[in-house]
Amino acid sequence: MAKVELQSINKVFGRVHIIHDVDLVIEDGEFVVFVGPSGCGKSTLLRLIAGLEDISSGDLLIDGEKKNDATPPQRGVGMVFQSYALYPHMTVYENMAFGLKLAKHDAGTVDERVQAVAKTLQLEALLDRTPKQLSGGQRQRVAIGRAIVREPKVFLFDEPLSNLDAALRVQMRMEIARLHARLKATMVYVTHDQVEAMTLAEKIVVLRDGRIEQVGSPLTLYNQPANTFVAGFIGSPKMNLLQATVVEPGGTWTKVKLDQGQEVAIAVDGSRLTTGDAVQVGIRPEHLVFGEADLFNGDQPSEVHVVEQLGNESLLYLANPQEPMPVVLRCEGQTGYKMGSMVKVQIPGHRAHLFDSDGNALPRSSEAEQSSIIS
Ligand SMILES: Nc1ncnc2c1ncn2[C@@H]1O[C@H](COP(=O)(O)OP(=O)(O)OP(=O)(O)O)[C@@H](O)[C@H]1O
Ligand SMILES: [Mg+2]
Repeated sequence: MAKVELQSINKVFGRVHIIHDVDLVIEDGEFVVFVGPSGCGKSTLLRLIAGLEDISSGDLLIDGEKKNDATPPQRGVGMVFQSYALYPHMTVYENMAFGLKLAKHDAGTVDERVQAVAKTLQLEALLDRTPKQLSGGQRQRVAIGRAIVREPKVFLFDEPLSNLDAALRVQMRMEIARLHARLKATMVYVTHDQVEAMTLAEKIVVLRDGRIEQVGSPLTLYNQPANTFVAGFIGSPKMNLLQATVVEPGGTWTKVKLDQGQEVAIAVDGSRLTTGDAVQVGIRPEHLVFGEADLFNGDQPSEVHVVEQLGNESLLYLANPQEPMPVVLRCEGQTGYKMGSMVKVQIPGHRAHLFDSDGNALPRSSEAEQSSIIS
């Protein structure tokens, strides 16, 4: 087990600065997930921790010791890639045993560890097969098994489940969660999958262009995104962001007027705002409600452009006079609304978020905090 600390880490490839001053503490035994758009530096950051790339500046500490120049084995990390990178000519057993043999463990220890891990990952019946005789999920389990047998202090996963079908992803996600609970190892996990990030992480790190945008528990990021980037990135479908102008700033409620729409009071501390400031109102699709007056048209309803019925929930895409991107409303279960239906939709002010002209969130007041939890 190990605590991993990144202190002002930078990475420059040639003349391109990829990772900028990343400061992060990953606690001993913690499950940390990196998310962010393609190319933001997630894999690079993992590779810097693993020792597969040189750190340009800054320090990497594992259990308090500087490890910038340590080799991957000296760091005690095990990495699992999206492409399983199994040795095709070796059996499952040999794939798992290979690293241990290289590390000069005696045959008895190697066998003991491989058998134990095979049991954990339900690979016992497959030990004599080669990778091409396995399904994608089985190969993934072997790749994870190969990392586990070496008993690393830190596991690094780079999109390990992205090649699997939906059902297998759910199963493997649970296996990884159980593995973490049992091994109590430090795990750093990169994913594009919202559900994986929300369910596996104790702490999510949102990256953009090689910089950390926000670090927090999944629900902290969901309930209190620090800026419009995190607000738009965490949650699917993403938070609606609507242009507005400040009408009356306040310490507990701030009144704004939506551009081409109605006034709405939002439960944020807007005392640093000034009347007339341009702001953005954020409202998650599940927090919009049907009401007496429409957020844009007042007495007149808005048109439903598209309805998506998912069975357990329905998504309504509503006309948005501000931009072509429709406003999304999510409702429980199935709906009778159809394309062309007319609805009046409101923003409950205690559910909404407010962002200043730089995209930074205004602090939500206690009225808002209380209402995030439905008991
Ligand atoms: N060896 C390299 N030389 C030069 N540039 C590189 C190198 N490796 C990565 N990069 C660049 O660094 C940036 C970050 O890449 P990285 O692979 O870390 O992104 P990522 O967040 O993992 O993206 P994805 O989600 O697509 O996997 C990209 O712009 C990439 O082109
Ligand atoms: Mg990557």
